[in-house]
Amino acid sequence: MSSALDHDASSATGTATRGDASTALELELRHVQKAYPGSRQPAIPDLSLTVPAGEVCILVGPSGSGKTTAMRLINRMIPLTGGDILLGGRSVLERPETELRREIGYVIQQVGLFPHQTVRDNIATVPRLLGWPKDRIEHRVRELLELISLDPDEVGDRYPHQLSGGQRQRVGVARALAADPPLLLMDEPFGAIDPINRASLQDGFLALQERVRKTVVFVTHDIDEAIKMGDRIAILREGGTLAQYATPAEILDHPADAFVADFIGADRALKRLGLASLADVTLRPLNGDQPAGDLPVSTSVRDALAAVLAAGGRPLRVLEPDGGVRGLATLEAIGHVLGGAGELDGTGRPPARGQP
Ligand SMILES: Nc1ncnc2c1ncn2[C@@H]1O[C@H](COP(=O)(O)OP(=O)(O)OP(=O)(O)O)[C@@H](O)[C@H]1O
Ligand SMILES: [Mg+2]
Repeated sequence: MSSALDHDASSATGTATRGDASTALELELRHVQKAYPGSRQPAIPDLSLTVPAGEVCILVGPSGSGKTTAMRLINRMIPLTGGDILLGGRSVLERPETELRREIGYVIQQVGLFPHQTVRDNIATVPRLLGWPKDRIEHRVRELLELISLDPDEVGDRYPHQLSGGQRQRVGVARALAADPPLLLMDEPFGAIDPINRASLQDGFLALQERVRKTVVFVTHDIDEAIKMGDRIAILREGGTLAQYATPAEILDHPADAFVADFIGADRALKRLGLASLADVTLRPLNGDQPAGDLPVSTSVRDALAAVLAAGGRPLRVLEPDGGVRGLATLEAIGHVLGGAGELDGTGRPPARGQP
């Protein structure tokens, strides 16, 4: 499943990077304030953060912390109360709203497909507005349907109510990507999708992002999804204030306060291991042991731990991409990492343990 998606992802990006591919733009929220009329507290009192061009910023936080509000402010679906938002250094307030929205792909939380249009027409919305020729639109729609693992001939002419909830959500992602926008806003795009399809969509999206390098703001409730997908994570707390904005590794290593530590979970040491790979571990040399199986060196330390445990604690052989043997992954080797005594490189510092 995921390999088929990878293939589709690369063919889709082949087109996306050809022709009128747009460059990603930096997004800056500058003292953004939003108070809904009639509310006693502002949904967002004062939010500043910058997403560098081509990076994925994940917004996480409890329900009501202002994530959707922030997204809707960025493409001016709702007006700012104060502050400014700059896209590529230019205030969104200076831009005609229609022009701005064509430049920003948006996957909304409740999908929001047009119910009386086919899947094909839904995906083609922005390319049609931009006046693309018919055959180019048709080609792009097919490509995007393949990217989201839907058969263009089977579902292209269906209406949204003839799809499952997860399929609708995937069509929403395809529609947002259609015109290759420099900024993508994704509000829980994979929220209603089962874990297997979700992992494969995440992988497909990351493969696509690797090639097209959009600036992306991505909302999720799933901290594991945030750690996997984000170049940076912005954690909002109730009341719409920013608790921490940093890379996944920084947040796991140094949560700013008890709220963040609680939010990322008691298993943050294990999550941190998910960001290190066997390439970061001092392996034991192979000296006549009978390994229980093989693992690629690219395996995360967390997955390697699970694999060794599943093998009843017996060591596993670690293989280089060319098939060469790198060494043995043993419980002790991994245990050293967990204990903070293993050798991890600069990006894979062992998690802080028992510190005051
Ligand atoms: N149209 C509106 N009018 C008044 N208040 C609103 C409106 N939309 C949202 N709010 C309030 O603003 C706050 C932030 O809402 P928002 O939808 O941004 O939260 P969220 O972080 O996206 O939550 P969730 O995780 O549940 O989607 C909430 O207190 C909400 O009740
Ligand atoms: Mg929301």
